[in-house]
Amino acid sequence: MATILQDLWNFFYLQTWDTGLVFINLLTPKIKKGAMYKEGQPGYNGLWPEFIPPNPETDSRSPCPGLNAMANHGIIPRDGRNIPLPFLAEALEKTWNLGAPFCRDTCNSVRKLYKKDTLDLSDLAKHNIIEHDSSLLRSDTFFAPDQTIPDKHLIERLLESATGPATPEHPEGQVTPKDLGKALSLRFAESRRDNPEFSLKFLHAFFAYSNASVFYEILGGDVKTLRIILEKERIPDGYEPFMRSRKGLTMKKQYFRAAHIWFHTNTKLKLKNNEMANEAETQN
Ligand code: HEM
Repeated sequence: MATILQDLWNFFYLQTWDTGLVFINLLTPKIKKGAMYKEGQPGYNGLWPEFIPPNPETDSRSPCPGLNAMANHGIIPRDGRNIPLPFLAEALEKTWNLGAPFCRDTCNSVRKLYKKDTLDLSDLAKHNIIEHDSSLLRSDTFFAPDQTIPDKHLIERLLESATGPATPEHPEGQVTPKDLGKALSLRFAESRRDNPEFSLKFLHAFFAYSNASVFYEILGGDVKTLRIILEKERIPDGYEPFMRSRKGLTMKKQYFRAAHIWFHTNTKLKLKNNEMANEAETQN
């Protein structure tokens, strides 16, 4: 009973705080280019702490390119182990300009789902807790038991599907919400067709859309940035989050973007039908 009351309190507290930030973001000017990070912080002047690729013998890594990149730059422990969740929440906020309630909520969920106060990145690879089938960047666990290794073929296919034109902000083009919706449709259909152990509960579909929205809001869907972060799990020199609102990405904005991407999912492809998967492949 005490836990339910605590959860309810956390929910209303974080949602109210988040709503306040939505209004502040609406009413204040965006952060200027070059002003995202303060002196002494990682990212200041476009410089990130040294990138050191992980040692597979000793270092713990996850299926998440964002967290792995943070460890590869030493923003969180390089060995990816015993990361205190309040420390992680603060590091997420400062590195990616995610809203404080968003980071607290995510880390509270991690605490509850994995029943731990500190995180080893490899915890996140446990199947069907947060990691799920039909990911954009990794084959399903049935085909790729080590979910910490990025699938270069899937990443390249996603980047090649970008329809956003090249602009000064996106010199190699942009993966749009519509592209993300189509890419998820294709992954759902492929998994249903090919994976005899396929499962995707509502919660995991929600995670898939949430990740896709962070992908767009924070990494800007920017092909040039994504290629480096997704393939090398490295933060490019000069990178600043594409989300430039003063109080960072709110949960409400993330829900909105996830719904936007969901809207572009081809609902026909949600059916269990091989032909639909083949059709999706031809469309891509
Ligand atoms: C505590 C915070 C976070 C946790 C617990 C987390 C966890 C995860 C997990 C478990 C996955 C694999 C999901 C799957 O099976 O597809 C994942 C994927 C992903 N995460 Fe994170 N993540 C966090 C923060 C971030 C941040 C800050 C970013 C962006 C900078 C990010 C971007 C992504 C992307 C792009 C994917 C790939 C989605 C896909 O393949 O469909 N995550 N994350």
